[in-house]
Amino acid sequence: MIQELIPHYAVMLEGQGGLPKVVIKTEWSDAEIYLHGAHVTHFQKKGETPLLFLSELSEFESSKPIRGGIPIIFPWFGPREGFPAHGYARTTDWKLKQSALSSTGEVMIHFLLPSEESLETELIVRVAQQLSLEMIVTNRGENEATFENCLHTYFQIGAIDSISIEGLTGSSYLDKVTPGTFTEAAGSVTIASEVDRVYLDTTATIEITDRKLGRTIRVAKSGSNSTVVWNPWIAKSQRMPDFGDAEYLQMLCVESGNLASNKITLAPGAKSVMTVEISNAPPA
Ligand code: BG6
Repeated sequence: MIQELIPHYAVMLEGQGGLPKVVIKTEWSDAEIYLHGAHVTHFQKKGETPLLFLSELSEFESSKPIRGGIPIIFPWFGPREGFPAHGYARTTDWKLKQSALSSTGEVMIHFLLPSEESLETELIVRVAQQLSLEMIVTNRGENEATFENCLHTYFQIGAIDSISIEGLTGSSYLDKVTPGTFTEAAGSVTIASEVDRVYLDTTATIEITDRKLGRTIRVAKSGSNSTVVWNPWIAKSQRMPDFGDAEYLQMLCVESGNLASNKITLAPGAKSVMTVEISNAPPA
């Protein structure tokens, strides 16, 4: 199964576990996106270490989410009794709606989440020197609808003890490790134990400075009022069957979304758009 989407730039072929994936090559970068979850599993600029982390133990099965890359969390975040954790978008096979090449050489792939629900959900991925994701949710129903969304991005880092995260100072957060609500006092956040925090009411750009790989990752967003920072550390890594025991040393999740009190309510006919732009540069 090989389907040419944009000659020389994008092709659909069989990926791991027999699941179809779109493989993209631009002048500046390579990327891969599975239809399963509309899941970006890979983005790498030429001559650089990949920007996204993908677990070596990730399962590629239609009933399971992929571990790493950018899972799309929708329409709820976290556990929900009797339903899959983090919603159904990450375990649904999305439809490829459109693919195009811009005059500047950027590849655009547009996905649609098949659903019986009144919320119509689309994802547009743009691949160039940077990676950009736009999630569009439209209420096609006759009643108000409420949802949470999150682009649960796993970044590849050199070492967990050589990174710092800027952009969160002064924000309040829900802490899932020591339950409660706190205010971020640190000028930059570092990780030396399990961290699982939902920062609320923040639209700030996040910068991850990686001293080992000598780069700064920048996550710029719009239409997102929450940022999640997650690293499972030792014990939780050991509990996750699709995640290596030592992989917490090389990954960091910085997730952009609208969660908890930032959840989104759409009137009939209304639309929400969240855009996340991921880029990197040498540290300042
Ligand atoms: C994070 C949550 O966003 O996702 C964590 O804050 C959770 O609590 C993590 O453990 C991974 O979730 P899952 O369902 O992919 O194992």
